[in-house]
Amino acid sequence: MITVENLTKSYGGFTAVDDVSFTAEAGRVTGFLGPNGAGKTTTMRVMTGLTPPTRGSVTIGGHLYRDLPNPGRHVGVLLDASAQHAGRTGREVLTLGARTMGLPASRVDEMLALVSLDERESKRRIKNYSLGMRQRLGIAHALLGDPSVLILDEPANGLDPAGIRWMRGLLKSYADRGGAVLLSSHLLHEVEQIADEMILIGRGRIVARGTKAELLAVQGDGSTLVQAVDNDLLAKALVAAGHEVTAAGAGLSVSTQPAVVGQVALEAQVALVDLRATEGRGLEDLFLELTADTQREAPAGAPSAQPATPAHAAPQGGPR
Ligand SMILES: Nc1ncnc2c1ncn2[C@@H]1O[C@H](COP(=O)(O)OP(=O)(O)OP(=O)(O)O)[C@@H](O)[C@H]1O
Ligand SMILES: [Mg+2]
Repeated sequence: MITVENLTKSYGGFTAVDDVSFTAEAGRVTGFLGPNGAGKTTTMRVMTGLTPPTRGSVTIGGHLYRDLPNPGRHVGVLLDASAQHAGRTGREVLTLGARTMGLPASRVDEMLALVSLDERESKRRIKNYSLGMRQRLGIAHALLGDPSVLILDEPANGLDPAGIRWMRGLLKSYADRGGAVLLSSHLLHEVEQIADEMILIGRGRIVARGTKAELLAVQGDGSTLVQAVDNDLLAKALVAAGHEVTAAGAGLSVSTQPAVVGQVALEAQVALVDLRATEGRGLEDLFLELTADTQREAPAGAPSAQPATPAHAAPQGGPR
């Protein structure tokens, strides 16, 4: 488990990480999400003893990274997949890692197989590796010492779709076996599919946290999307019952709970095709909105172009 407590990192007068506290629990994948320059890498560098904090602390299983006797056996780290000696082969890098950690040479072959780097590729120099191959080697290196904690900075960078799916499976099963995974990304889609818990950071500060469902729940406004065989008839009945109704895609958006809409439909004897709670604007909009003042560009179409009431924003097929 990783515990970050009131972590602040300043460079001169600039605060890169501002009083950040969170935990990454064992058995879970924690996504660390934020736009470019938000402070993700800086936080991870402090975690791994590469950057001293200005204030606060990070402990791993209760210990500072620098106090871990054989850190690679406890924490697997991948911060920059290209930060390897370019003239060494992948196999050499892993072999050096295994020796440093006191592991048998067989562990190298196990890891190469795990990340699908074949015999020929493993003997190629890293300067000739593709970005995705470097990333795979980095993941192999992080897992070498069979650590209980993984700290991965943008591990999906450079992986193709099949590679991303492979990594997702690998990290999920690692967490299922009891490991703690902290994984950063500036890409929401990468994180939302894999993370049990998400920490959203913008300009050095945590702006939101929770499971995907919890983050989205904040967005719900208690309104309903409904589609009936006869929308006009239903709309009339709803208006007569005192509800606000607007057209939304192939159906209607109603300013009340689904159960109430269902009851009105029953009484009006209108058959329904679809009935569900409005899910708000979706995680991507939430992410862009929460980090809006920390984005370099104004997010496309947001937040100014967003409808004032979420009820009308995702009339159909909204993000689930
Ligand atoms: N050594 C340093 N000296 C001065 N400023 C720094 C230093 N390291 C990082 N920063 C600044 O701290 C801020 C956070 O940087 P960081 O690399 O942690 O962002 P990030 O969230 O990892 O972004 P990205 O998604 O682009 O990787 C940036 O504004 C960066 O310029
Ligand atoms: Mg970074």
